[in-house]
Amino acid sequence: MQGSANLNVMIKAARKAGRSLSKDFREVENLLVSRKGASDFVTRADTAAEQIIRDELMAARPTYGFLGEETGEIEGQDPTRRWIVDPLDGTTNFLHGLPHWAVSIALEHKGQIVAGVVYDPTKDEMFFAEKGAGAWMNESRIRASVRNRIDESLYATGIPFATRGELPATLKDLANLMPACAGVRRFGAASLDLAYVAAGRYDGFWERSLQVWDMAAGIVIAKEAGAIVEGIAPHSNPLDTNDILVANEPQFEKFSKFFRV
Ligand code: IPD
Ligand code: CA
Ligand code: CA
Repeated sequence: MQGSANLNVMIKAARKAGRSLSKDFREVENLLVSRKGASDFVTRADTAAEQIIRDELMAARPTYGFLGEETGEIEGQDPTRRWIVDPLDGTTNFLHGLPHWAVSIALEHKGQIVAGVVYDPTKDEMFFAEKGAGAWMNESRIRASVRNRIDESLYATGIPFATRGELPATLKDLANLMPACAGVRRFGAASLDLAYVAAGRYDGFWERSLQVWDMAAGIVIAKEAGAIVEGIAPHSNPLDTNDILVANEPQFEKFSKFFRV
């Protein structure tokens, strides 16, 4: 696919950060067996990746704003456009040497996400989309599944951990959905959960407590693949509500009922 100049900037930045993180990930595998552990090292890897992305994006588009998980908000001269970045989504996986994490970069224009890139360096899978131009993984067009039956469907979620709220609500969701479906996965990287719905690998995904940088890029990819994306409240916008409900078009209504009771 011939992407726009902005998309090419995003892909280049994601690849560059991905190279740096991949190098650090190999080091984590060594640190796992050391007594010091890998925690501080991973924090540095995460910050360094965001710096790489910020430098790339700001050099290419100096007037755009920037919101990054590690940097916070940088206002741009152009108030209508900003990058939304999670340099390392799936930090816990990364820290434990689990090869399932991603770089996530979105572009917002006038409050709407117009382009998104989610890059999984360990599998070399680059998911991307621009509004109106479909969703892609590497060279191939991707589409959400058409599976309609809940009992044949596979879903993803995120389960709150440590001191995070929403655990009782998520446990209730699981109690409602699990007996009815083919399986629920908790792989630990929301951006990839969304990309996997876009690729038809999952039939749906929900999570109750997310930040905009976890979701922004994945949302446009899932929508461009034909999935329906809302907040858990009917017709709400996940970027406002910080929760998300996604499924392929044929089963969205049916699937949403498990969480809207
Ligand atoms: C986390 C991952 C995880 C989700 C958490 C997020 P991080 O992001 O996306 O899947 O369940 O809510 O915070 O901390 O690894 O960037
Ligand atoms: Ca994240
Ligand atoms: Ca992160």
